[in-house]
Amino acid sequence: MTIFTDKTAVISGGAEGIGLSIATALGKQGMNIVLGDIAADTLEAAKNTLQGMGVSVATVVMDVTKPDDWERLADAAEESFGKIHMLVNNAGVASKPGPVEETNLEDWRWVIDVNLMGVVMGAAAMVARIKTHGEGGWLINVASMAGMSGVPYAGSYTATKVAVVGMSESWQAELAPYNIQVSVLCPAFVQTRIHLSGRNRQAEYREDSGTSKDDYDAGPTADLVENGIDVNIVGNRVVEAIEAGELYIFTHPSYRKYVDMRCNAISEAFSRAAQSPLLKDVPDDLGPASFK
Ligand SMILES: NC(=O)c1ccc[n+]([C@@H]2O[C@H](COP(=O)([O-])OP(=O)(O)OC[C@H]3O[C@@H](n4cnc5c(N)ncnc54)[C@H](O)[C@@H]3O)[C@@H](O)[C@H]2O)c1
Repeated sequence: MTIFTDKTAVISGGAEGIGLSIATALGKQGMNIVLGDIAADTLEAAKNTLQGMGVSVATVVMDVTKPDDWERLADAAEESFGKIHMLVNNAGVASKPGPVEETNLEDWRWVIDVNLMGVVMGAAAMVARIKTHGEGGWLINVASMAGMSGVPYAGSYTATKVAVVGMSESWQAELAPYNIQVSVLCPAFVQTRIHLSGRNRQAEYREDSGTSKDDYDAGPTADLVENGIDVNIVGNRVVEAIEAGELYIFTHPSYRKYVDMRCNAISEAFSRAAQSPLLKDVPDDLGPASFK
């Protein structure tokens, strides 16, 4: 018996990669698993894999950019298992990296709608249902190390992951009174098919991009992803960190130096502002209570 036993987790993008790794680790803890994914074939394969391990599973083909799909996923979870205790907002895509002057607006819309609005819609649909039963639960958002430090040539991906980290910090404070624990997973490179995200690019985001569903990939990112850590580590690490009540979940300890560099640069910028004659009359105690 663990804190997870007989509870229910809904995982977006759970058909493969990091989502399936988390599903596997949570299933081993005795959770009921509900997978939502846009890819019907891999979703069916994931269901068979988990059932073969003795995990109770339900699946729904859905698109995280569609609010109605989230409601169908939530309804299916409650019909199958009664209550929802955890949402893992995992579905995400990466577009081909490129310089800012070659910005493709279709790329941006796609990445923002899946990685950012998908997380917003998931939380909006599931948190109310977790609150309703009063037993508490978990909201786990999958961001990235890109949410901790800007990645050159990957503005859209970075923008969404920084937003997911920020929203997780907001929601942690907001949901604590309801006993809903919020965590944000920030991996660096993991061996998955993220560099082939174009395989799932919806038609409405391809019309003007000049890229077909088949030929679209994240180019130079492929080598980094293929040399990333074993995806199976990630799910177990998430379970370990949730049990420890961690807000930030890291999987690559050596990346700490990049976060330290950013924090130091921000701290030094404050020191320079404090020395500026232009700001000498700005009072010390300005700002909302939540900053204090
Ligand atoms: N692999 C990495 O190196 C890495 C690093 C940091 C963060 N991440 C994040 O981890 C998460 C999972 O990515 P992954 O690496 O497992 O990639 P992946 O491509 O292997 O898996 C992504 C899953 O999401 C599904 N999906 C894609 N678009 C969807 C949509 N619109 N609706 C529903 N499902 C959709 C896919 O079918 C797939 O099953 C993403 O949020 C990604 O940004 C990955």
